[in-house]
Amino acid sequence: MPFSNKTIIITGGAKGIGEGCARVFHRENGNIAILDVDEDAGKLLAGELGERARFYKCDISNEKQVKKTIGQVVVDFGAVDVLVNNAGILIYASVTQTSEEQWDRTLDVNVKGAFFCAKYAIPEMQKRGKGVVVNMSSVQAFVTQQNVAAYATSKSALIGLTRSIAVEYAPEIRSVAICPGGVDTPLNREAFSQSPDPDLVRQETIDLHLVERMAEQEEIGELAAFVASDKGSFITGQPIRIDGGIGIRVAGSKKS
Ligand SMILES: NC(=O)c1ccc[n+]([C@@H]2O[C@H](COP(=O)([O-])OP(=O)(O)OC[C@H]3O[C@@H](n4cnc5c(N)ncnc54)[C@H](O)[C@@H]3O)[C@@H](O)[C@H]2O)c1
Repeated sequence: MPFSNKTIIITGGAKGIGEGCARVFHRENGNIAILDVDEDAGKLLAGELGERARFYKCDISNEKQVKKTIGQVVVDFGAVDVLVNNAGILIYASVTQTSEEQWDRTLDVNVKGAFFCAKYAIPEMQKRGKGVVVNMSSVQAFVTQQNVAAYATSKSALIGLTRSIAVEYAPEIRSVAICPGGVDTPLNREAFSQSPDPDLVRQETIDLHLVERMAEQEEIGELAAFVASDKGSFITGQPIRIDGGIGIRVAGSKKS
């Protein structure tokens, strides 16, 4: 099994894509450290996974909490082999509507949080002589829409962080950015529910994808596990899109 005796830290691992990652890496025999601010969901998932899974309450935008938590993961599991920087938030606002507070919170969680986790996980990987940092970016780093200014900026920044980690710590440590299209998660379901017609917005989101559906959480987890495994060992410094073909159709073109 690819992750036997390996420890995988998954931020935002309590729900959504992070949960999908936790389930896949656990199935592949890894030790799972779920870092999240949602204590109820995190404990529930760790309890369900059982052996080899633990929940750690940690706000990744707080450097002291990240340092302490990663230290505790090493005490509990003995090492850090893979970091999945997945936790992220999305605030809907245009450039002129975004408050400084909204901008800072988005960048603090989505970018600074990933930086803090990498800062404290990489030295642990170096002790093992090997490691992988997977950053959950988004297709929004390449194609975007109105009213997600801070989010799209943060997801683009993660690709820069991915390159920096890959260049600075090669060949022992690799870093890969995963860029999903629409995934059926609490984040999206919450966004749809705020619209006057949630079913319509959901269908419009589905219609953006050539494959005519959104991704399941574990599909993203499967890609994360592949790039983090030895099978993905020739991949580093790159963003990989897993997006159902979103954004490649010429506007106005129709199926023949
Ligand atoms: N859902 C999508 O369509 C989609 C598409 C592309 C990229 N992504 C990215 O994937 C990641 C996960 O998205 P999701 O849809 O599963 O979101 P989600 O809201 O369903 O889950 C995110 C998890 O992160 C946790 N979290 C939030 N802030 C945190 C913090 N400061 N510290 C620790 N944990 C925190 C939440 O409690 C939650 O459990 C995000 O980075 C998101 O930008 C999502």
